[in-house]
Amino acid sequence: MKKVLVTGANKGIGFEIAKQLSERDFHVLLGARDINRGKAAVDELGGNVTFIQLDLESDDSIQQAVEEIKRDHSNLSMLINNAGIGGNMEHGPMETDMRALREAFEVNFFGTFELTRGLLPVIKENEGIILNVTMEMASLAILSQGVLPNSFSYNTSKTANNAMLVGFARELKGTNAQIYAVTPGPTSTDLNDHYPLGKTTAEGAKIIVDYATDGKWHHGQMLMKDGFMPW
Ligand SMILES: NC(=O)c1ccc[n+]([C@@H]2O[C@H](COP(=O)([O-])OP(=O)(O)OC[C@H]3O[C@@H](n4cnc5c(N)ncnc54)[C@H](OP(=O)(O)O)[C@@H]3O)[C@@H](O)[C@H]2O)c1
Repeated sequence: MKKVLVTGANKGIGFEIAKQLSERDFHVLLGARDINRGKAAVDELGGNVTFIQLDLESDDSIQQAVEEIKRDHSNLSMLINNAGIGGNMEHGPMETDMRALREAFEVNFFGTFELTRGLLPVIKENEGIILNVTMEMASLAILSQGVLPNSFSYNTSKTANNAMLVGFARELKGTNAQIYAVTPGPTSTDLNDHYPLGKTTAEGAKIIVDYATDGKWHHGQMLMKDGFMPW
């Protein structure tokens, strides 16, 4: 049975990714920063789902999770970097508060980077997949068209996350492990105050799960439902 770690899996798209992968016979390590919320999600899913405490704003939590996985789950072959925060989506650069900007980078970039770097040797050894959940506003090509919201903390921290993908893709070059990013597209969740025109979390998660399990080589790519997303 393949083993996957999904971060931020106690709710939203992450919970649905965990659910759909467990239904496709994966053993899911369900990452959540809050023990009660995480364990409630594990209980709801049942079956082959194991809780991993993981707060991407805490170096200690990240290090403990990496050590636990190396010790007890060394056959981990998939990491889905789903956890993320949006901050205040209505704040452009002039309204953005420095603390909010730093917090967004802490979760969407620094914490995700530290976890990915910690687990990369395991994924490489198991010839697995690192999948980052990205989004349209993180694409400089799309954002610079000036149509989508100028949500400064969210957009810049997720763009940095895409740059991280390029760095790790170069690191994995010549191996059988791969890293790529997938956007579910606008999906109605707590992050966007349940955007009324968004997909359901089941629809959004399915796009990610389909790319995670299609058996194809997507190394270094950014993907959306029907193909490539521009950088
Ligand atoms: N919704 C969309 O339209 C959309 C579109 C494209 C991409 N995405 C991406 O999809 C991913 C999931 O977002 P969502 O819409 O499902 O949002 P969500 O419902 O707000 O879920 C976010 C998840 O991230 C967790 N999280 C937040 N801060 C964390 C931290 N410091 N450490 C660990 N986990 C943390 C949350 O845990 P708590 O419950 O403890 O806060 C929650 O489990 C994000 O990366 C987002 O950028 C979303």
